[in-house]
Amino acid sequence: MKTPKSFEVVDQIKAAVTKACKRDVVSCADILAIAARDSVAILGGKQYWYQVLLGRRDSRFASRDAANTNLPPPFFNFSQLIKNFKSHGLNLKDLVVLSGGHTIGFSKCTNFRNRIYNDTNIDKKFAANLQKTCPQIGGDNNLAPFDSTPNKVDTSFYKLFKGDGSQSDRLVQLYSKNSYAFAYDFGVSMIKMGNLKPLTGKKGEIRCNCRKVNKI
Ligand SMILES: *[C@@H]1O[C@H](CO)[C@@H](O)[C@H](O)[C@H]1NC(C)=O
Ligand SMILES: *[C@@H]1O[C@H](CO)[C@@H](O)[C@H](O)[C@H]1NC(C)=O
Repeated sequence: MKTPKSFEVVDQIKAAVTKACKRDVVSCADILAIAARDSVAILGGKQYWYQVLLGRRDSRFASRDAANTNLPPPFFNFSQLIKNFKSHGLNLKDLVVLSGGHTIGFSKCTNFRNRIYNDTNIDKKFAANLQKTCPQIGGDNNLAPFDSTPNKVDTSFYKLFKGDGSQSDRLVQLYSKNSYAFAYDFGVSMIKMGNLKPLTGKKGEIRCNCRKVNKI
């Protein structure tokens, strides 16, 4: 979940790295890739550690529209998610395992209200419980944890599910029972996602401030 606080953490890491290297040599893109990996390993344990390839450079542009077009919004249904991931070269397994990244964090009421009041393919107890946090009217910014252990990287995200025997269901069942399979496949898909169209060589730049492009 992106919050203003997470930007401040990135600023602090950037400052520490620049100080240690005595100049700006590590891109913000690499810092984010490493920070994602390390936070997962800190909250989940050593089994979640994976090797991150480095050498990315930062973009000379920033586009809110491109971000909104490329990142799947919270209201996408399953077929829309599959299509979105496919457009980035990510398959069904990547979708299922990377969705497990929601093992940490919270969601705003506005993002799941429809689902807990109007959907039928949802665990009834789970929905009733969330309705206490998220009323039909008001409380838009109330937060509910993504799973029962929001500060821990684990497989409890996969436990609440109602399957129909499809390929994605078999993956969910595997991950819910086998944290090693989840940890391994999560690392593989994170590396794959982290390597999508990186800027390297003379492309892009090494940003001095992760919040904005360098002035030239
Ligand atoms: C998912 O959403 C798309 C676009 O709104 C719609 O065409 C499709 O029928 C939906 N699929 C399911 C399974 O609900
Ligand atoms: C549930 O669906 C009804 C009918 O489409 C709609 O009027 C209502 O606003 C929805 N409720 C929520 C909480 O989204």
